[in-house]
Amino acid sequence: MPDLSIFPPRLAGLRAWVARRAPHRLVTVLAFGLLSAAAGCGHPDLSQEPGATAGCEAPGPGDLDPQPIMLPGRRCAACHDKGHQAGNRVWTAAGTVYDRPDSPCNSGVVAGAKVEIADETRKVLVTLTTNSRGNFYTSEPLRYTGIIVRVSKDGKLREMQSAMGSTDCASCHLPGGAAGGRVYLN
Ligand code: HEC
Ligand code: HEC
Repeated sequence: MPDLSIFPPRLAGLRAWVARRAPHRLVTVLAFGLLSAAAGCGHPDLSQEPGATAGCEAPGPGDLDPQPIMLPGRRCAACHDKGHQAGNRVWTAAGTVYDRPDSPCNSGVVAGAKVEIADETRKVLVTLTTNSRGNFYTSEPLRYTGIIVRVSKDGKLREMQSAMGSTDCASCHLPGGAAGGRVYLN
């Protein structure tokens, strides 16, 4: 059985009700599948992915709409990965650029910044541009483990000096995280 703990109590309650009404295990499993599908439906739910918030404040209006400007600063890959709620849209690299390392998430974003992702030899393999909420993402296959990133705009440039083993930027880039702060350019 899938792990029920990730579902809101409301759904767990419904499932218990279904289980009481239809004690046959197979029927329960089928009903549970339908309920899960109804809960999923492409509606992002931060509460289902505890690691996704990346120290951010509560989302602003529209931030939970499933679109390129959604949830700036949060860990995109917490949801956009196989087996998670946006598992049909897997990003191989994704994040948000801010104007300072200790920025809140819903403001202070840098739009129109160039994000170059290179391998450990500094050969640039993917070039992206941040959108109006500072977000960038790609599903381009990135078949290397040591990544170097360069963020630039208007002559300003910041580069990750050491090759990192992950492209899940906000897993390290949050205040108090391994990188000390958000991805930023100033
Ligand atoms: C709490 C989970 C969650 C987080 C965090 C999240 N997303 Fe999403 N996102 C979703 C879901 C769910 C969808 C809808 C997927 C679907 O259509 O099945 C979606 C849809 C999208 C889409 C539209 C995809 C399409 O093809 O229609 C884009 C683009 C996107 N997200 C980018 C991002 C970026 C960039 C980040 C990080 C800054 C991010 N998301 C963070 C859950 C999340
Ligand atoms: C595994 C943790 C980790 C991940 C994942 C990670 N970084 Fe970093 N990043 C660091 C650390 C640690 C530093 C500081 C040391 C250095 O520059 O190598 C850093 C530094 C940087 C810098 C330079 C900051 C400065 O002050 O000059 C940029 C830009 C950057 N990262 C962007 C990114 C982007 C964009 C991503 C996602 C594609 C990313 N990083 C993913 C850990 C990470």
